[in-house]
Amino acid sequence: MTEYTVEFVGTGETITCSEKQTILSRCLEEGIAQEYSCRVGMCLACTAEIIEGEVTQPAARGFTEEEAENYALTCMARPLSDLKLERGKYPPSIEADAETAADAGAAADD
Ligand code: FES
Repeated sequence: MTEYTVEFVGTGETITCSEKQTILSRCLEEGIAQEYSCRVGMCLACTAEIIEGEVTQPAARGFTEEEAENYALTCMARPLSDLKLERGKYPPSIEADAETAADAGAAADD
């Protein structure tokens, strides 16, 4: 079983993770505060941007094909190489949805 190194840029946190384990499960074992909610690939709360490396995440249903190349759903993703990930980074389509929701909230406060 190959163990890969997963480094979280900007935090100095590093874990090892085999191709049989999800990145989220290893984060939870190591006490890393990776956000998550559903743990079944639907809510996208556990997203991290792939800065370097490759993952397999065939069950990441919430992503488009292009998004799946650049972002990892850590509850589904397993490493295929050493990785550098940035936690809390979401695809532009999701960021836009969040801003729209925030704008709607701000308007409701007026
Ligand atoms: S925790 Fe919901 S998609 Fe990963």
